[in-house]
Amino acid sequence: MKKIVIAIDGYSACGKSSTAKGVASVLGYTYIDSGAMYRAVTLYFDRNHVSITNTQEVKKALENIDITFIVNDKTGLNETYLNGLNVEDEIRKMYISKQVSQVSMIKEVRVEMVSQQQKLGKKKGVVMDGRDIGTVVFPDAELKLFMDADIYVRAGRRQQELLDKGQMIGLEEIMENLKERDRIDTTRKESPLVKAEDATIVDTTFRTLEEQIEEVVNLALSKILDG
Ligand code: DC
Repeated sequence: MKKIVIAIDGYSACGKSSTAKGVASVLGYTYIDSGAMYRAVTLYFDRNHVSITNTQEVKKALENIDITFIVNDKTGLNETYLNGLNVEDEIRKMYISKQVSQVSMIKEVRVEMVSQQQKLGKKKGVVMDGRDIGTVVFPDAELKLFMDADIYVRAGRRQQELLDKGQMIGLEEIMENLKERDRIDTTRKESPLVKAEDATIVDTTFRTLEEQIEEVVNLALSKILDG
């Protein structure tokens, strides 16, 4: 059967990654979380005190960063490794969420990440989520989606996700972080978050995860069976 690329973009915490994981699992595709790559770079910069305004420092740091995804045998899901260390939990923490959009604005960082993402998707059969997947990384993706949801719903879902990992964060703090990231992500100079012209809008406010997955799988199947 024909294999396609599914590009999912949208605002922070509107269910992109949960939907993408579910769709990948149904179709037997590989799920790639491009946001995890920007988060891993942010973690490296934080740990190594890289000054984000110093281009030479940034370039040197990027040469020393190796990001890989390895499937966890128990969950069957990809986990993020930074220079051989599993950083899957660390990169989801609030102190990374607060810095990641600033790091993602840097041109050198984007050029490197986009190139790695394009290599990861070369064989097709991938679902990748992020902010510029349908516009910059895979402009020829067979299926492009743009996800959105009400800010209160998004903040509530993110709060539950963090709680499940043992992190208790107030709704206000989460909401402020989501709004600030959306603001930076949509207004930055380098590949800002915009809906690709040919992307289908999926609003997840009143949808369950199962409904979202089903809708995207159906859209994907129509593309796959299309020829
Ligand atoms: O998907 P996420 O919320 O984990 O992504 C974290 C940040 O990374 C997000 O606020 C902006 C940045 N990002 C990006 O600039 N481009 C992408 N393709 C994916 C994420």
